[in-house]
Amino acid sequence: MSDKIYFFDTTLRDGEQVPGCQLNTDEKVIIAKELELLGVDVIEAGFPISSPGDFKSVVAISKMVNDPIICALTRAVENDIEVAAESLKYAKRKRIHTGIGASDYHIKYKFNSTRDKIIERAIAAVKYAKRYVEDVEFYAEDAGRADNVFLAKMVEAVIKAGATVVNIPDTTGYCLPEVYGEKINFLMENVNNVHKAILSCHCHNDLGMATANTIAGIQNGARQVEVTVNGIGERAGNTSLEEVAMIIQTHKGLTLHSNIKSQRINGLSQLVSKMMRMPVQPNKAIVGANAFAHSSGIHQDGVIKHRENYEILAPEDVGISQSSIVLTARSGKAALRYHLERLEYKVDATELEEVYQRFLILADGKKDLKDEDLILLMDGQLINNNIEVCDVQIVSGKPLQPVATVGLNIKDEIYRESASGNGSINAAFNAINSIIDHQITLDDFEVQSLLHGNREGGKVSLRVLYNNINYFGYGEHEDLVMASVEAYVNAINKMNFIKKKNVKARFSLAS
Ligand code: KIV
Ligand code: ZN
Repeated sequence: MSDKIYFFDTTLRDGEQVPGCQLNTDEKVIIAKELELLGVDVIEAGFPISSPGDFKSVVAISKMVNDPIICALTRAVENDIEVAAESLKYAKRKRIHTGIGASDYHIKYKFNSTRDKIIERAIAAVKYAKRYVEDVEFYAEDAGRADNVFLAKMVEAVIKAGATVVNIPDTTGYCLPEVYGEKINFLMENVNNVHKAILSCHCHNDLGMATANTIAGIQNGARQVEVTVNGIGERAGNTSLEEVAMIIQTHKGLTLHSNIKSQRINGLSQLVSKMMRMPVQPNKAIVGANAFAHSSGIHQDGVIKHRENYEILAPEDVGISQSSIVLTARSGKAALRYHLERLEYKVDATELEEVYQRFLILADGKKDLKDEDLILLMDGQLINNNIEVCDVQIVSGKPLQPVATVGLNIKDEIYRESASGNGSINAAFNAINSIIDHQITLDDFEVQSLLHGNREGGKVSLRVLYNNINYFGYGEHEDLVMASVEAYVNAINKMNFIKKKNVKARFSLAS
């Protein structure tokens, strides 16, 4: 029988303690709603006594989130607990997370106290929290370095006082997986009332062992994991949500399951990274940009033959549309053929050998090769669509919406269309789109203005997206709109191969 692992997400509390990554209440509510959709069981929404902003966020999240339990952190201090209870007033399901240091370091050097007195404070805090909420989680801070016999005594006492969950944090990220696992096992075997509560793993990543320790914890009987999206958090971070979720899902032999909807992982990872302005390292497990990218020839060949040769997870399972076969100087012929076929170039073995030799020369001078490079490689040059700009007329000025009429010469026929836009350049681009009858998206636009005496002018470099492929265009003219139109048409003139897939163009883009 498979046991459920409860996911307690602390992205908005421990994760948000990262310097420079603070979120406002609205941002926290957006992330909390996404965590709800992801399927986490508990959201630690903040530490309400720490600031009015944190208090406000816990209130807002309590109002907006329906299913997960909303949890608020406190110290073992009555006022903290009162404020946390107040902040949770609107939560449909609520939990107070209170606790105190359990290691001799904390007892001596943080609290200047004794083991017995600390246990008394722990009991008092749990009892006080129980006056406000039924669900009370107790954390034994720095449990990773605490003496196991003392820790067991503390855990037994707080469960007796009413704790429903007991958190065993490796606050400093010091434990080895075996040691952390043994600690949980020791508690499971030596705390008489342990089955009246759930043990929880809260591991920090100072030595890169947070996920391993958490897994060791659940293998030994803990049933809740405290995690953050992308593993963000104090210092080297917390256990990463996506790693634990995917380990449980991948290793069926653990006979564990969770409520996490794994297809939502990548989207949430990107949202958190963007909102917290904290980039995800490219080689980060599960959600890094390279997590499903294959670049060496041996791996590419293997993955093309059979995906599972080099992939233990399917990218779609975590919300990534597909793995990528990156073309670099280390790529082999299998990868080159794969991409050529994707671009609808058919090559036999002799042609492939010949193209591969030219590919290696090109790849040596570049980090990675894009579709545009392959087209160049195949055709020797980019086939020009031979579209020429004949005329451009703009009508604009307050209160008129700018309207552009553009005439294009395409294979000796003149096409002319008018369109409006939110500016003269946008109107001109819309007019061109309507002539060529394709959806082209402007991705990047840069202007370098040129002033010669009283003569104006500009150089425009832009990037457009068509059929998921980027094209670059360049134009120069003494009129900025004309320079932009030239650059846009320059990019379109490179779209030679798209016509292979083009079904409904009014004319063929290139021959
Ligand atoms: O790392 C830790 O010990 C904590 C507690 C406050 C739960 O974050
Ligand atoms: Zn922590």
